Amino acid sequence: MRERLQYPPKFKVPVGWFFGCFSEDLSVGEAMPLEAVGQQLVIWRSDDGIAHVHDAFCPHLGAHLGHGGRSDGGRLVCPFHAWEFDPDGSCAAIPYSSRLNKQARLRRYEVDERNGLVMFWWHPAADVGPLWQLGQVTEWDDDDYTEPQRRQWEVAAPWQEIAENALDLAHFPYLHGTGMLPVLDSYEADGPLARVRTTQQYDERAGGAMGRIDTDSYGPGFNIVRFSGIVDTVLIGAVAPIDEMSTRITFSFTVKRASAEAFGSEEAAAAFTEKVGDAFVAEVGRQLEQDVVIWENKAHIPVPALAEGDGPVMQFRRWAEQFYVPTGATESAP
Ligand code: FES
Ligand SMILES: [Fe+2]
Repeated sequence: MRERLQYPPKFKVPVGWFFGCFSEDLSVGEAMPLEAVGQQLVIWRSDDGIAHVHDAFCPHLGAHLGHGGRSDGGRLVCPFHAWEFDPDGSCAAIPYSSRLNKQARLRRYEVDERNGLVMFWWHPAADVGPLWQLGQVTEWDDDDYTEPQRRQWEVAAPWQEIAENALDLAHFPYLHGTGMLPVLDSYEADGPLARVRTTQQYDERAGGAMGRIDTDSYGPGFNIVRFSGIVDTVLIGAVAPIDEMSTRITFSFTVKRASAEAFGSEEAAAAFTEKVGDAFVAEVGRQLEQDVVIWENKAHIPVPALAEGDGPVMQFRRWAEQFYVPTGATESAP
C-alpha cells in the first residue's frame, strides 16, 4: 500500500529557473529577503540597475543580508559590520581591516530579468549553471496589450502537485464548472520544455464560444499560457518552491485591447477591455482558490487509476522527473 499512496505528497525541490520577485518591487539599491528552494536568499539591485540573488547569511558572523543590507557603489553591504560583497559573491572590502578574507564568499545565483520578473537559477550543485533559457513574451512590450496585472499566492503543496493540475483536464468542468471537458490537441515534451495545446468550449456565460489554451513551460518555474477565443489573454505563471512542501505562485496577465472600430469608440473599447480583463483575473483567482483546497489536502497516487479523458497526467510526470537531482549534490556547493 505504501508505494500506492503518499500523504502528504512528498517531492524534492526541483531544479530550474524560479520566481525571485516582480521587477517593480525591487528598487535600485534595495536588498530584500527571499525564502525559496529551501534556502534563505537575498535579492538585491545594484546601482547599475542589475538584479542579483545570493545566499542570505553573511559568512562573517551570519547576519541576514536581506534584512538591513543595502547596495552601495555596486556592492552589497552587510548591516552588521559593513563588509562589502561584489556581485560575483566575493568579499571586496572590510571597512576596519586592511586585509580581505578570501574565505568570505557568498554563493551567487544566475539571474534572468525580463517580462517584469526577476527569475533565478537553482541547482543544488553550485557549479551547475542554467541548463536552458527562458522565453521572451513578446506581448509584454506590445502596445496592443494592457499593462500587466499580477497576483500572488502561497500554497502548502509541492510544485509538482500544483503543476499537474493544468494537465488534469477532467477536473475543469467538475471542480471549476467550466462547461465541457477540454480536448487535448497535443502534448509535446522536448527536454525541459513542454508544449500543451487544448481546445475548450466556454460555457453559456461566455456564449458557448470555442477557445484555445496553449501552454509553453520552460522547466518547473516558468509557464506562458495563451488563451484565445473570447479575448486574447496571456498569462505568465512564475513559481518558486518555498521548500519541499510549499510553493509561491505568481500570475501576470495581459489582455489584448479591443479595437475602437469594433466598439464604435475608443472609450467603449477601453471599457470592454477593462471589463474582460478584470473578469479574467477574477476567474483565474477563483479557480486557483478552488484548487488550493484540493492541493493542500490530497495524497499523491504514484500509480493512479486513470480513465479516458483524464489528460496527459503520466506524460507530465515523466517530464517532471528530469528536474529532480540527487540532493547529495548540495555538498559540492561552497
Ligand atoms: S555579519 Fe556581516 S559583516 Fe559581520
Ligand atoms: Fe484547477
